[in-house]
Amino acid sequence: MASSITSSEAEAEDNGLDLTLRPKRLLEYVGQNQVKANLSILLEAARGRGEPIEHLLFYGAPGLGKTTLAHIVANELGVNLRVTSGPVIEKAGDLAAILTNLQEGDILFIDEIHRLNKTIEEVLYPAMEDYALDIIIGKGPSARTLRLDLPKFTIIGATTRVSLMSSPLRDRFGMVYHLDFYEPEDLEKIINRNADILNININAESASEIARRARRTPRIANRLLKRVRDYCQVRTDGRLDLDGCRDALAMLAIDEAGLDDIDRKILELIIDKFNGGPVGLSTIAAATGEDMATIEEVYEPYLMRLGFLDRSPRGRVATPAAYEHLNRKAPKLF
Ligand SMILES: Nc1ncnc2c1ncn2[C@@H]1O[C@H](COP(=O)(O)OP(=O)(O)OP(=O)(O)O)[C@@H](O)[C@H]1O
Ligand SMILES: [Mg+2]
Repeated sequence: MASSITSSEAEAEDNGLDLTLRPKRLLEYVGQNQVKANLSILLEAARGRGEPIEHLLFYGAPGLGKTTLAHIVANELGVNLRVTSGPVIEKAGDLAAILTNLQEGDILFIDEIHRLNKTIEEVLYPAMEDYALDIIIGKGPSARTLRLDLPKFTIIGATTRVSLMSSPLRDRFGMVYHLDFYEPEDLEKIINRNADILNININAESASEIARRARRTPRIANRLLKRVRDYCQVRTDGRLDLDGCRDALAMLAIDEAGLDDIDRKILELIIDKFNGGPVGLSTIAAATGEDMATIEEVYEPYLMRLGFLDRSPRGRVATPAAYEHLNRKAPKLF
């Protein structure tokens, strides 16, 4: 588990790195061309009118660039970005305090917005629609509602689980953007750009090797680049070449398809113990020691993207491609 490239320990360790490598302008943001094209029109129109932009929602798997994009939007508009997250806002008063402190045009970034609780959501509705805050004063029969005006602001929400958001909340966003997994060519560009920033001497083959094995995710690409650099610095002369790169990735137990130990454990469980499935999520969680949300948010999307895993109503199923990847003989069924 400690070796998993998706563990929160690794995440904390890489936070500092994330800050230096995070693109600041839309032009530096690689890939996601449709989202970028759309956003740049929105930004330009808002700039032209001198108005705050509409509320935006970004959703997609972890590490695909939601937070980065929120910072870019604020940067491009030259406005303040206030950052909070769903689970942090516990009481309606917490949200009221944040909202009343905003200035005209400010952006409030709410990460993990699917984790906002119901009562908070209800305070958010009039705030998003009418820039107003309804405060209840007093209790019982003498209670009354006071309406406070708020400055015109923008909410950018981010979530890895858009299906867990209530539809009234989702509907209040003017634009909803889905961030998809990246093409290896785009990850290669990101790796080359970041190698430059970090002063890493990397050749083209190595960059493309890391890109191919980075789960189509920029955060993982950055992390692998750093790990491979460490390895080459200690084991070779510091230059990052293909051999060093492959050795380092082998040491991290990341295979040709970019799968790590846990991905393989999931597939092996389904194939070897359950004859290819279907297997329930809770069984997979128990067998791998990961929690169900992590499996659903982190591991499964990538396995499905590779066509190694299918979700059926009765559980998870391994595909013929998964059998082949793990060198198992597929049952006749296929
Ligand atoms: N399009 C991109 N171009 C270049 N670098 C990117 C891009 N998207 C993400 N990154 C890099 O990947 C890192 C992770 O991105 P970010 O933190 O924005 O992901 P996220 O979608 O918010 O993830 P999470 O769901 O875990 O919060 C950033 O630090 C940034 O360096
Ligand atoms: Mg984020």
